Amino acid sequence: MGTLSFISILNCLLFLFFKVSFAAVDSITPSQSISDGSTLVSKEGSFELGFFSPGSSKKRYLGIWYKNIPVQTVVWVANRLNPINDSSGLLMINRTSSLVLMSNNKSVVWSTGLGTQIQANNPVLQLLDSGNLVLKDGNSGISLWESFDYPSDTLLPGMKMGWDLRKGIKRRFTAWRSPDDPSPGDFTYGIEMQPHSYPEAYIRKGNKKFYRTGPWNGLRYSGSPELKPNPLYAFDFVSNDDEVYYIYNLVNNSLITRIVLNQTSSSRERYTWIEAENVWRLYSSVPRDYCDNYGLCGANGNCILSGSPVCQCLEGFEPKSQEKWSLMDWSQGCVRNKPLSCHKDGFVKFNELKLPDTTNSWANKSMSLKECRDKCLNNCSCMAYTNSDIRGEGSGCALWFGDLVDIRQFPAGGQELYIRMSASEIESKKGRRMKRAVIVAVSLAVVSGMLLIIGFYICRSRTKLRERNEVVRHQNNEGQNEDLELPFLDLSTIASATDNFEINNKLGEGGFGPVYKGILKDGQEIAVKRLSTSSGQGLNEFKNEVRLIAKLQHRNLVKLLACCIQEEEKMLVYEYMPNKSLDSFIFDQTKSKMLDWSKRFHIICGIARGLQYLHQDSRLRIIHRDLKASNVLLDSEMNPKISDFGMARTFGGDQLEGNTNRVVGTYGYMAPEYAFDGQFSTKSDVFSFGILLLEIISGKKSRGFYHPNHSHNLIGIAWILWNKGRPLDLIDECLGETCTLSEVLRCIHLSLLCVQQRPEDRPSMSSVVVGLGSESALPQPKKPGFFLEKDSNVAHGFSSKHESSSTNEVTITILEAR
Ligand SMILES: *[C@@H]1O[C@H](CO)[C@@H](O)[C@H](O)[C@H]1NC(C)=O
Ligand SMILES: *[C@@H]1O[C@H](CO)[C@@H](O)[C@H](O)[C@H]1NC(C)=O
Ligand SMILES: *[C@@H]1O[C@H](CO)[C@@H](O)[C@H](O)[C@H]1NC(C)=O
Ligand SMILES: *[C@@H]1O[C@H](CO)[C@@H](O)[C@H](O)[C@H]1NC(C)=O
Ligand SMILES: *[C@@H]1O[C@H](CO)[C@@H](O)[C@H](O)[C@H]1NC(C)=O
Ligand SMILES: *[C@@H]1O[C@H](CO)[C@@H](O)[C@H](O)[C@H]1NC(C)=O
Ligand SMILES: *[C@@H]1O[C@H](CO)[C@@H](O)[C@H](O)[C@H]1NC(C)=O
Repeated sequence: MGTLSFISILNCLLFLFFKVSFAAVDSITPSQSISDGSTLVSKEGSFELGFFSPGSSKKRYLGIWYKNIPVQTVVWVANRLNPINDSSGLLMINRTSSLVLMSNNKSVVWSTGLGTQIQANNPVLQLLDSGNLVLKDGNSGISLWESFDYPSDTLLPGMKMGWDLRKGIKRRFTAWRSPDDPSPGDFTYGIEMQPHSYPEAYIRKGNKKFYRTGPWNGLRYSGSPELKPNPLYAFDFVSNDDEVYYIYNLVNNSLITRIVLNQTSSSRERYTWIEAENVWRLYSSVPRDYCDNYGLCGANGNCILSGSPVCQCLEGFEPKSQEKWSLMDWSQGCVRNKPLSCHKDGFVKFNELKLPDTTNSWANKSMSLKECRDKCLNNCSCMAYTNSDIRGEGSGCALWFGDLVDIRQFPAGGQELYIRMSASEIESKKGRRMKRAVIVAVSLAVVSGMLLIIGFYICRSRTKLRERNEVVRHQNNEGQNEDLELPFLDLSTIASATDNFEINNKLGEGGFGPVYKGILKDGQEIAVKRLSTSSGQGLNEFKNEVRLIAKLQHRNLVKLLACCIQEEEKMLVYEYMPNKSLDSFIFDQTKSKMLDWSKRFHIICGIARGLQYLHQDSRLRIIHRDLKASNVLLDSEMNPKISDFGMARTFGGDQLEGNTNRVVGTYGYMAPEYAFDGQFSTKSDVFSFGILLLEIISGKKSRGFYHPNHSHNLIGIAWILWNKGRPLDLIDECLGETCTLSEVLRCIHLSLLCVQQRPEDRPSMSSVVVGLGSESALPQPKKPGFFLEKDSNVAHGFSSKHESSSTNEVTITILEAR
């Protein structure tokens, strides 16, 4: 008893001890101060304010950093220009309510410099969980000063980048000189505008413009087609008489993300914190490419990344100095082919552009496009106009005066711009168009003539083929009457190509029998699928497969080269894929490193296109029914090709759903309605595709869903992480730095849409293909099928380690009595 009470007293003492020593404060009053060694910690423990020495430097700075991550990441520095040489720094609120940082000899190192301008009662300095350090009047709560108004190099969620026109605050970001030195570098970022102009943000290097976001068009910066609604953060641009700023806010505060200016890499970067790996990962960065270089193509030039050379004069313009232009010195830009004549001019519409530099611009939010045109036409120095807001039908007016600078053209997501041209230039443009139309017509005539000739030859060769198949049909004692339109190989030819089906040549076991590698006499490598003779359903499946595949031609489908029906043997001869199947890469610790993100994305897009073709583009609607990683083969250049159509079913064009009493497929990939009810449709393939996508991203196998102990279900983990706002934790760790996070994020989003419970909620494969390639907003996914809620903590234990034990993947065939 005595010992017990002693222990409980000890416990109490310990508890008190911890309570006291860890009770961090988030604010101070004028009677308190912060010395080197003590800190302020925001209420929820997100940020900490204190003294630090950056990198290898010994100097002391007052700054704010993340409290809850192990890598010290400073987001704000007070005395950037004036470091303290020892640990004598002291931060306090002085009698006239200024925040003052002093060093040993009582000299002021840094201050908020308000002096006596504002008389405050009981001022309080508080560090907020947003990372904002606020000095406020204790009675009224009115903010006297806040660190968010005087940013360093980091734009945090909730921070406004831009101008407060009433208070005269211009929030501009300045990179650290180096990781050891937070003093201001020459790399800066902020919004720039004249009264009534169309505002936009610039990055400058020294005094020179380095990168331009393009003006805000209501949806995004004109120069950032990729900036779009996403599940991580919401963004906005506010422009009115009082304020002009860009802001972003997190969808879920558990995510940690920041935008930082980097002097070393000369870029503005967005990082997100990946908790599972304890690293900051690059999410996006500008400048993105060559065409993002400010003014690369000179005045009235247009930068087209896919062009050769990248710089071209806008249509209606020609190089100012042809000589320099051909030496790829574009700095002098372009001049008009034909001079303007003011009121007799017109406008030519250009598409998909990043709007020009708005330094000499004028904007009005309430004018229509027609009024805008008139206003531009009536001022002879107005060179271009467009809607200032592209939402909906478009609204507002923006005008440009003088040369048009820093235009680039996007493949998609750019904007319309109406550029002033002389009447004669517009006339000759029309002329050029007519001429082109004539040329097209003539070439069409030539082509159709050629087509006639080609058609003739095709007919002839088809007749020959038919003759050949005629022979085959006669040989066929089973009375097949399908027109297979496929070369036949002898059993003896195949037997010698595969060394008589030598076991070492066996590549694996497909749905209905083993697959062998073979080499034909001419050296061509082939893969032979030998239909097992014992399989009762074999023949039907075989015929089905041959009939189908012979008609399918797509670069993401394995090509059927020939077949063999002889004696009891039925075999299919495919092109050989040297890199085997996708599962041998993504689930293998060593080989998975060979597939960086861009290769994986290429593979994802290929599979999607192949499946889209099966579902829609081929003449028949084909459902694969057993899509999985081992059924995706890779050619020598790692192009994906879908294989194994043995179980595919064909439908007439309008039949969308079928019911089968034989469920074929593989656990872990099957859609719920298919596994339980035998209902299959293109949407059950979409479900399997979603699973495959998750596997490619995570490098983990989707497990069997029926096993009671298998709470670690890949869909479940993906869904939980998604809802926690941490979808990026799903990424295969071996992808490391190679990821384009926005692309990965989109793939995760799409995969969750594909595995939704209800087939009708899932997108079609063509929407998936569009979704992969575009920037448009995606709907929020609903709860997935086969989601196990039993253990909702799994996401915490989800470390990105590879499975050491390999779970055997079994293809199943359930025969159900009806
Ligand atoms: C720190 O030392 C340097 C060089 O000795 C000096 O120039 C600087 O003023 C000192 N700073 C402070 C805050 O004492
Ligand atoms: C206090 O430090 C500043 C900055 O280094 C220096 O210029 C000044 O002479 C020092 N004053 C005293 C009294 O030491
Ligand atoms: C408080 O600090 C500010 C800024 O350094 C200064 O202008 C002001 O005079 C100080 N007030 C007092 C009472 O020392
Ligand atoms: C800036 O970029 C360099 C080189 O890419 C990198 O090593 C460094 O960590 C970056 N700095 C910041 C503050 O992110
Ligand atoms: C903007 O356009 C509207 C409608 O034409 C007009 O009433 C308003 O005065 C204009 N504002 C400015 C600043 O020119
Ligand atoms: C044309 O626009 C420019 C720039 O806004 C302005 O300075 C000039 O006065 C305008 N000219 C006419 C005739 O309105
Ligand atoms: C945000 O994430 C946390 C932890 O990851 C989670 O508990 C919470 O439900 C999420 N909140 C929302 C609104 O999604």
